[in-house]
Amino acid sequence: MIIGILGSGQLGRMLIIAAAQLGIKAHIFAPDATNSPAGDIAFATTEAAYDDHDALVAFANSVDVITSEFENVPATTLDILAKHKTVSPGIAALHTAQHRIREKLLARDLGIDTPAFWHVTNAASLHTAMTKLNKDGILKTCTLGYDGKGQVKISPTSDFDAVFASLESDDVILEEMIPFTAEVSFLIARARDGSSRVFPASLNQHKDGILDQSVAPAALDDKLITAGTQAVTKLADALDLFGVMALECFITDDNRLLFNEIAPRPHNSFHWTIEGSATSQFTQLARVLAGMPFGSVSTYGCWQMDNLLGEHMENVPALLANDQVHVHLYGKSGAKKGRKMGHTNRQIG
Ligand SMILES: Nc1ncnc2c1ncn2[C@@H]1O[C@H](COP(=O)(O)OP(=O)(O)O)[C@@H](O)[C@H]1O
Ligand SMILES: [Mg+2]
Repeated sequence: MIIGILGSGQLGRMLIIAAAQLGIKAHIFAPDATNSPAGDIAFATTEAAYDDHDALVAFANSVDVITSEFENVPATTLDILAKHKTVSPGIAALHTAQHRIREKLLARDLGIDTPAFWHVTNAASLHTAMTKLNKDGILKTCTLGYDGKGQVKISPTSDFDAVFASLESDDVILEEMIPFTAEVSFLIARARDGSSRVFPASLNQHKDGILDQSVAPAALDDKLITAGTQAVTKLADALDLFGVMALECFITDDNRLLFNEIAPRPHNSFHWTIEGSATSQFTQLARVLAGMPFGSVSTYGCWQMDNLLGEHMENVPALLANDQVHVHLYGKSGAKKGRKMGHTNRQIG
């Protein structure tokens, strides 16, 4: 069994490690496959552009199933690959997750509450939407944003024209700013036959738009856990997800769960599952891709995951010397500020 993986980052790398334990090989396809976190440990690599038709066909023909470690796979790339092999997480999941309006409309259609939002395509439509919102908001590019990039805060007293211009996009979403009490994520694995498993939820803290820490299982009301579990299951079913998908939510001060976004791939907030769960998110994905049964999603106590960004790398020697800490490093050169270089997991209860 050989799985094909689009992308060369740490999510691919950790999937390859998990797959290897199950006797599964991995072939990476990425424009920057050489000297990359995933490329370094793959059984095979193809270094080619995502619009290189011949390279895509050869790649598809050399693997049993294909997945992607990022959601922004171009539609034309998917169409080519899907003619030859099953592609995880599926075309509907990728298409929907690639656009912030599409994913929120799907949530709404399924009866899952979202923050109030407006599609903003020019400065005039921002003025109209801000008049309706009339309080603090957040403007985000609808596509290609990650780790808080392509986002800017806005208030009724902001210079709307200047804020709109700063995003350099005419495909933008205005969302009401949610004064959340917590952020929580849910992760589902769904097999080709539609059966699924949901991991215990994670509570997440962000710094400067980047995930800083996750704690799991989330100590939240059963009502909220049930709502999130049902929401991620409904979304996965609606998208006919094949693979894994995370749902990021806000918890409001009146204890309601609001949809923020979906990510149809392994998720940073579930890296604790590597040591903290009987089956990690990566192992579960490898099993689903290979048509193997699900592993158990039961946890061993309570876990904390901390991201290691470029600016944290000086702490690594001390972390390695700490018996309580599991250190994961992604093998990236260039420890730039804000760049995800690794993470640590530790049991906290
Ligand atoms: N509507 C909102 N209200 C309050 N905080 C928000 C809102 N949208 C985003 N944020 C904050 O910014 C973070 C990143 O935004 P998100 O929409 O998840 O984009 P990304 O794709 O960069 O993860 C969120 O996890 C949250 O902390
Ligand atoms: Mg997010």
